[in-house]
Amino acid sequence: MRIDDPKIVAALPELGVELRSGSALSDLTSLGIGGTTDLLRIRKHEGIPDLLNLLDAHGIPHRFLGGGSNLLVGDGELPWVVLQLAKPEPEVVINGTFAQVDAAADLGRTVTFCAKNDLGGMEGLIGVPGTVGGALRMNAGAYGMQIGSYVREVKLYRAAGRKIEILKGDQISFEYRHTSFAPDDMMLAVKLELPSKPFKEILAGIRICNEKRRSSQPLGQKSAGCIFKNPPGASAGRMIDELGLKGLHIGDARVSDRHANFFVNAGSASAKDMLTLIADVRERVHKAFDVELEHEVVVWNA
Ligand code: EPU
Repeated sequence: MRIDDPKIVAALPELGVELRSGSALSDLTSLGIGGTTDLLRIRKHEGIPDLLNLLDAHGIPHRFLGGGSNLLVGDGELPWVVLQLAKPEPEVVINGTFAQVDAAADLGRTVTFCAKNDLGGMEGLIGVPGTVGGALRMNAGAYGMQIGSYVREVKLYRAAGRKIEILKGDQISFEYRHTSFAPDDMMLAVKLELPSKPFKEILAGIRICNEKRRSSQPLGQKSAGCIFKNPPGASAGRMIDELGLKGLHIGDARVSDRHANFFVNAGSASAKDMLTLIADVRERVHKAFDVELEHEVVVWNA
């Protein structure tokens, strides 16, 4: 979708917004899949309510993009514009055992920055691509931890009230890869409270998690992490593997040879290829195990 009304284009700089016309979402997602649309890069949080009022007044639909690492976007010209926070400087401010982190901050850099300040707890998230905002919305977790455990406050734009609000940690529920945020809430910043630990100890934990991840996941390839959530008490990856589906492909969309719940873009896969592969695997798992796998990856299909 293109913003070509000169009145809107002229209003954007004052709101701290940069228009990047005709951006390819394939360049902004870890799967390397996705069509084109106008991208609005937001440089100041305070301009967001006016920006959204402006888009709504002109009937321009929008989606919020984080780091694009858990996202499968449709092909072709997309029927909405995309909003994304620009990275601020600094991304993280430490105060005692609290870390105030911008939603656009890179997750991995945040984990190591906190570690260097003797704040641990997030070792399991090392190697998870994406932004802190995306991790927060999905309650990202690995190796027995989840980010939600450390959240004390969240600054967010709530589309329902059309304003920026601050929520306390206990006003948000964090479950397995799920939170109580509304789909149109936009994460802006988070205050984490982290356990104090010596850097050396945190580093040892980070090394172990890195090693486990490297040995079990296809890190060098284009993927969106795990495609399906694990059903209670079971592993989606193991079930897909047991069916002998590693290497199954539709075009360049392929079930990873390393971890069967990772589907990789082995070249120039389209969203259509990937969605067909996902539906095919889901169907096979259903037939074999009588289990309906739920998407873990977020799908933006027009
Ligand atoms: N397994 C297989 N074959 C495979 C993959 C896994 O047999 O192809 C077996 C493993 O041997 C293991 C079990 O299945 O016994 C579980 O596998 P793994 O330890 O790799 O964990 P997972 O349940 O597949 C979850 C998260 C990952 C997270 C890891 C580590 C989900 C859907 N996945 O994977 O998160 O990194 O644990 O904690 O919860 C993600 O969210 O995108 C993600 C990758």
